[in-house]
Amino acid sequence: MAYQLIEAPPDPLAIPAQRAIIDRILAGAGGTPGAAMVVLNELQGEIGYVSLPMQEYVARRLRIPRSQVYGVVTFYSFFTTRPRGQHTVKLCLGTACYVGGVTTLIEKAQQFLGIRVGETTEDWRITLETCRCVGACSQAPIVTVDGDVYGRVRPEQLRDILTRYSGGGAG
Ligand code: FES
Repeated sequence: MAYQLIEAPPDPLAIPAQRAIIDRILAGAGGTPGAAMVVLNELQGEIGYVSLPMQEYVARRLRIPRSQVYGVVTFYSFFTTRPRGQHTVKLCLGTACYVGGVTTLIEKAQQFLGIRVGETTEDWRITLETCRCVGACSQAPIVTVDGDVYGRVRPEQLRDILTRYSGGGAG
């Protein structure tokens, strides 16, 4: 697959508008050490991830050890430390999709993209994730890309879908 490299986005702390959001969230928390969880949660929601520099900044501002912030971020799976790619591909791990063979699709997607679930391709085009039932069980196995839902996906179709979003058309 031919990759056209897209530059990694700068850290949110280096972007004035995002830095303002981070400072607003920290100010709202009153700078108390006990606010770490609330602050990190809001950062994840508003910025979309909590980078290492952001974690260090939060630790400094709340006057708590970096390891404490890092511990929270790595313990809870809803925190992510890197930005998502241009497209997010999700494979449904609900029961119907599991029975319908989604595990084979996950293996194929990982092979094709050269990444594991939870990772983003080097060109920042695609982030690969799993999800819970999206309510389209009769069409299992389901793959979603951003807002688009693909049903009864066979491995050879998955390859076409991934190619399209990897820069071969839809990207
Ligand atoms: S189990 Fe996948 S859509 Fe319901």
